[in-house]
Amino acid sequence: MEPLVKIRNVEVRYDNRNGGLVAISGVDLDIRQGEVVGIVGKSGCGKTTLLKVIAGLVRPTRGEVIYNGTHNGGGFRGIGMLFQSPLLLPWRTVLKNILLPIELRGEDVDSYVPRALELMERIGLKGFENSYPWELSGGMQQRVALCRALIHRPSLLLLDEPFSALDAITREDMWMLLQEVISYENYTAVLVTHDIREAVLLSDRVVVMGGRPGRVKAEVTIPFRRPRDLGLQYGREYNDYVAKIRSLLGD
Ligand SMILES: Nc1ncnc2c1ncn2[C@@H]1O[C@H](COP(=O)(O)OP(=O)(O)O)[C@@H](O)[C@H]1O
Ligand SMILES: [Mg+2]
Repeated sequence: MEPLVKIRNVEVRYDNRNGGLVAISGVDLDIRQGEVVGIVGKSGCGKTTLLKVIAGLVRPTRGEVIYNGTHNGGGFRGIGMLFQSPLLLPWRTVLKNILLPIELRGEDVDSYVPRALELMERIGLKGFENSYPWELSGGMQQRVALCRALIHRPSLLLLDEPFSALDAITREDMWMLLQEVISYENYTAVLVTHDIREAVLLSDRVVVMGGRPGRVKAEVTIPFRRPRDLGLQYGREYNDYVAKIRSLLGD
């Protein structure tokens, strides 16, 4: 089957006052339907840039991204994104935050309410429809952001260090939740993280990026069946993958 996303020899150069900066260069990557791909790399190596290119938010200055047969097309409607901070609108209730993408698309908001309520229940937000974001903990706000990213049933979920601002225990809860929604609705997902342990726990394949300019250094297949148990973290095989990826990252 054709990959959902084909990234071919992609370069992104940002123009700035000092001339230009090549953020990523020569990036080749396939993302297959139903796959969870982790991307790890040090700060500044171009992970966010790569996600933006996949989302069509940044145009490659060289090479191409083919998404579902569309070349470098901007504004892919099939994408849901989750960022490090939840970016909720404080004057809207939780339910209205979740429905925002539907409203922005000018679609029938009411018809998405049952979907929003179902997602909220699955993601552990039942009963908080009419709360405001500032009444919720950081972990719960990120759950709201996850519901918002999923409301329109995207065919691709792009996650940019979504759990890095959460405490360790809340982060583990979110790992489990994310796995549950991914398998329940069979999402294809790209998870950018600088947490190698997180990448190994959640991904079918981990892409290791190196810097200056950003490029793919290695890919490691993680063969454990999904969804995975938190206990996996204490096993030998899991830790061998973590160590291998750590050494591929270099110092
Ligand atoms: N809009 C931009 N304009 C100019 N330079 C940028 C822009 N976005 C990112 N960069 C630069 O590109 C490089 C890669 O950034 P980024 O993709 O955010 O890396 P990462 O997400 O891995 O930390 C960095 O050197 C950063 O300063
Ligand atoms: Mg980033």
